Amino acid sequence: MLVRQLSWILVIFIFIAVGESKMTGLRGGCNGNDLRGLTAFKSGIRHDTSGRLEKWVGRDCCKWEGVTCEKKDKNTVKRVSELRLPGLISGDDFIIVTSMEGTLSPSIISLSALEVLDLSNLVNISGMIPRSIGSSLPNLRQLLLNGNELTGFIPESISNLSKLEDLQLHENHLSGTLPSSLGNLQYLRRLFLHSNKFSGQIPPSLMKSKNLLTLDLHGNNLKGRIPENIGMLKDLRKLDFSDNSLSGTLPSSLKNLTSLFEMYLEFNVLEGELITLPPSLGFLRLDGNRLTGRIPPFFQNLVSLQKVSLANNKFRGSLPSTLGSLSQLYFLNISNNLIEGPLPNEISSLQNLQTLDLSFNPLNLSPIPEWIGELPALCSIFLAGCGIKGELPEFLQSVQSPIFELDLSSNNLTGALPNWLGDLTSLSLLNLSRNFLASNLPNSLAQLKDLGVLDLHSNRLTGPIDHIFTMQKSSLKYVDLSHNKLTGGLPDSFRKMGTLQSLDLSYNRLGSDFPASLGLVSALERLNMQKNKFTGEIPNTVLKLGNLKELNLSDNLLVGEIPKGKPLSRFPKSSYSGNRGLCGIPLAPCRPGV
Ligand SMILES: *[C@@H]1O[C@H](CO)[C@@H](O)[C@H](O)[C@H]1NC(C)=O
Ligand SMILES: *[C@@H]1O[C@H](CO)[C@@H](O)[C@H](O)[C@H]1NC(C)=O
Ligand SMILES: *[C@@H]1O[C@H](CO)[C@@H](O)[C@H](O)[C@H]1NC(C)=O
Ligand SMILES: *[C@@H]1O[C@H](CO)[C@@H](O)[C@H](O)[C@H]1NC(C)=O
Ligand SMILES: *[C@@H]1O[C@H](CO)[C@@H](O)[C@H](O)[C@H]1NC(C)=O
Ligand SMILES: *[C@@H]1O[C@H](CO)[C@@H](O)[C@H](O)[C@H]1NC(C)=O
Ligand SMILES: *[C@@H]1O[C@H](CO)[C@@H](O)[C@H](O)[C@H]1NC(C)=O
Repeated sequence: MLVRQLSWILVIFIFIAVGESKMTGLRGGCNGNDLRGLTAFKSGIRHDTSGRLEKWVGRDCCKWEGVTCEKKDKNTVKRVSELRLPGLISGDDFIIVTSMEGTLSPSIISLSALEVLDLSNLVNISGMIPRSIGSSLPNLRQLLLNGNELTGFIPESISNLSKLEDLQLHENHLSGTLPSSLGNLQYLRRLFLHSNKFSGQIPPSLMKSKNLLTLDLHGNNLKGRIPENIGMLKDLRKLDFSDNSLSGTLPSSLKNLTSLFEMYLEFNVLEGELITLPPSLGFLRLDGNRLTGRIPPFFQNLVSLQKVSLANNKFRGSLPSTLGSLSQLYFLNISNNLIEGPLPNEISSLQNLQTLDLSFNPLNLSPIPEWIGELPALCSIFLAGCGIKGELPEFLQSVQSPIFELDLSSNNLTGALPNWLGDLTSLSLLNLSRNFLASNLPNSLAQLKDLGVLDLHSNRLTGPIDHIFTMQKSSLKYVDLSHNKLTGGLPDSFRKMGTLQSLDLSYNRLGSDFPASLGLVSALERLNMQKNKFTGEIPNTVLKLGNLKELNLSDNLLVGEIPKGKPLSRFPKSSYSGNRGLCGIPLAPCRPGV
């Protein structure tokens, strides 16, 4: 009897339940909490350049753009499982950049079945990460809120998102310390917290999150040591702690990171000697620290190394000959250390080396070893301040691969700028500044059609410069010929120099009228012509230089009224002083009738 009654109750109950779900289906509504959460999110956004939210109408939120629903179990309505509204919308062959302006509604936590929340790169969403996110969205696998204007802390509750695999909060204004409970996230594979304002120490407990593949904390205010237990992250492929204030020595457990391919620790205050490094590294940056000691011979075991920067440290001693066995190395930067010569010949076996920067070390390379010219892939040579004496080495004209960048500045080079420089037709950067070069500028320089940066300042160069500015095709962006003994004038051919941003001719003996065409170089940001013998009036065209941020025309023979208006009126008196004939703002007014 009781059984029969119960079964009737059950039948009625099932009837009601089925009816309910049919009804909601008919009304086309999605789950009420989801609808409330999404509606609240939408009302927090004041402006959406993608136009996606505009189309969020009606009650069936499962049909809205960016929303994915999933039927969790047979008796309930579908629930929102994914909200994907990234600012960067990409397809097979296009990428559209959109943005949303507004505040992240805390009601987003009503979407309690959510597995993926992607509000990345919407640029202008402010607000905070909801405090109770951990208890409200327990199914979350991906939380992507990067590239916004979020402030506040990472809530402690985040550690309750036990299914989280991907946490990307980078490029916001988040602050506070990193919650030590982050290490409880056992499935976490990607943790991107870079470019925020996090402070305090890196919690050692973070290393309990042992499935991490990528850990990026760069560009914060993190202090203290790199946790000694970092070696627990056995699967880690990429580690980036650069641009923080981390101190102390490198932990010895780094050698346990046998999957690590990229390690970026540059721009911290790390000290001590290099004792050990992860064995599988391909990319290593340690530049801008206070590391000391020799560059250890164990580098030869790091056979996958491709790119290494140890610049701006206090490494001393000579380079180990074992460096020569790094057959995949294409970039080596050891500039600004205390490395002594001679360079081991073995470096000449680096078949793939493209960029070599040994600048500012007491190497006393005098002369440059010829094998540098035999490195088959070398195209960027930076040997500034290496104590190089004598003439510009001739072997440079017959190197195996075309030279793109050549920096032999701050050495003791003497003799002439050779004509063969013009044969290095791939040059994009030539820096021979701060030497004792004494000659005219060879005509062949005008053949360097890809030259973007030409820095010859502080030498003893003489003669005219006009051929530099009458090139058929010019890529020049940066020209510094200051502090020489150059003579002659400037041609009125600057019309062609559309890319020029910085021109420094100061401290020479140049003299001609101020070319009107200089005012047509609209990219120009810096113009220094002081301490020369330039004559004539400042042409009105200069008023068109809207990008000009630095100007110095002082100590010349310029005359007449300074053309009235911006940008010329923005500069101080000292930009114009020492020109007896010059008047008008910001100098004294011109006398009427003169
Ligand atoms: C963000 O929105 C504010 C107004 O809320 C606006 O002033 C600002 O220009 C926007 N910033 C960007 C980068 O779109
Ligand atoms: C995490 O969840 C547990 C229970 O599941 C709860 O006791 C704890 O308060 C939660 N922690 C946070 C920070 O929300
Ligand atoms: C690193 O590996 C060594 C054994 O090679 C082990 O003794 C040590 O505990 C490991 N350290 C970490 C932090 O995993
Ligand atoms: C070498 O590293 C220093 C310091 O980080 C940097 O300023 C320089 O540009 C680097 N050299 C090259 C060729 O990239
Ligand atoms: C290079 O020239 C400077 C300045 O004249 C001098 O002090 C220095 O000793 C010279 N260095 C070498 C290696 O000749
Ligand atoms: C050329 O080298 C000198 C130092 O030797 C440096 O001060 C200058 O900035 C360099 N020029 C360019 C354009 O990089
Ligand atoms: C311009 O150069 C002169 C030297 O001729 C210097 O005294 C003055 O401070 C410079 N002014 C500016 C604004 O750079």
